[in-house]
Amino acid sequence: MSKFFVSIVSGVMLAVSGAPVLAHEPGTYESPIVEQRVVKFKQSGGDIQAVFKKHLPAGDASAIEAAALRMAIWADEMPDYFPQGSPSVGADKALWEDFADFESKAKANATAARALQAAARSGDTSQMVKAAKRLGGTCKSCHDAYRIKH
Ligand code: HEC
Repeated sequence: MSKFFVSIVSGVMLAVSGAPVLAHEPGTYESPIVEQRVVKFKQSGGDIQAVFKKHLPAGDASAIEAAALRMAIWADEMPDYFPQGSPSVGADKALWEDFADFESKAKANATAARALQAAARSGDTSQMVKAAKRLGGTCKSCHDAYRIKH
């Protein structure tokens, strides 16, 4: 793997997940809906990490396309997994005070994931790298506003 990829990976992973992260563990969920959304977020965390660490270095555009599609579908559904009255250690209560903003951040995430999907389909590596970084930026933007690192 080139230094180029290593530096993007560490930058984005820090931006997306923060470090160190003590996330929810099985048996520590506040409610079933919290468990469901955390499982989906963990999938996205794994997907974006794999995009930077594995699929981009390997030039595996079809794996990137599949990961981007999963993230896009989850981003579409995300607001439905945050009903009023579903607090958790990871979710800042502010998100229910300005839910329209939360929804717009989820929408930006979905749009960026679809842009990555399109870039993967084009087969152009530099477009994929750009789109993946932009996608990571939309994760970070919502986390900075509404996720509590715990
Ligand atoms: C619209 C807001 C929003 C977007 C967009 C978003 N997240 Fe999150 N994310 C959250 C919130 C809120 C939590 C905390 C959920 C909870 O604990 O109830 C979270 C939690 C997580 C977690 C921790 C799950 C755990 O183990 O507890 C990971 C990993 C994560 N997100 C990855 C991502 C990735 C990767 C992306 C982008 C592809 C992304 N998120 C996009 C709001 C968002």
